[in-house]
Order: sequence, then structure tokens, then C-alpha cells
Amino acid sequence: MTKVLLIYLVSSFLALNQASLISRCDLAQVLQLEDLDGFEGYSLSDWLCLAFVESKFNISKINENADGSFDYGLFQINGHYWCNDYRSHSENLCQVDCQGLARAPWWER
Ligand SMILES: *[C@@H]1O[C@H](CO)[C@@H](O)[C@H](O)[C@H]1NC(C)=O
Repeated sequence: MTKVLLIYLVSSFLALNQASLISRCDLAQVLQLEDLDGFEGYSLSDWLCLAFVESKFNISKINENADGSFDYGLFQINGHYWCNDYRSHSENLCQVDCQGLARAPWWER
């Protein structure tokens, strides 16, 4: 759940620059602030690598999978399991709106 908040924080960070890309250094700073260095045994560089591979640091990235489900945001969180995208049945394990994982915060909309 904290990690979901992190993703929202990253989104707000990004909104300041009015772009869909977050720089590697800005992301590293947010991850550090959120205490992700070492979280679940993964280093800061692991998290940066994951975000790069998944989204190329594009916070707005939404990608459709072969099974018809969609992945959202920096870490490409899947709408079938983790968030609700109102497209089909979702487990919604994180109890969040998928679009919120891939967009700027309310004050920038
Ligand atoms: C980020 O992803 C969105 C949605 O997938 C896409 O429309 C946009 O062009 C991408 N931005 C960049 C800079 O690649």
C-alpha cells in the first residue's frame, strides 16, 4: 500500500515538469525518500532498473497485454490483479484506481 502512495508521489513529482517522463535521478530521489532502498531485499538500482525496463521512466505508460488486461505507469502495475480499471473484473488487491497510477495528481489535471 505504501508503494502505491509512492507511485502517486512520483506522479506529483513529475507533474511539476509537465511531462510524462521522470528523470532517473528524480526517481532515485523519490525512491530513496520512500525508503525503498533495500525494500524486500531490492536495492535502489534494482527499482530503477525495473522502472526503466517496464516503462522507460514514462509515468503515463499504459500497455495492453496479450490477455486483454492493461498495465499502468512506471512499474506497469496490472489492472487484472492490482488496481481497478473498470474494463473487466479485477481483484483490485491494492484498492486503487489504475488510471491514478499513470497520471498527474488532481491539481495538475
Ligand atoms: C508515455 O506513454 C503514453 C501512454 O502509453 C504515451 O502516449 C506517451 O507518448 C509516452 N511518452 C513518451 C515520452 O514516450
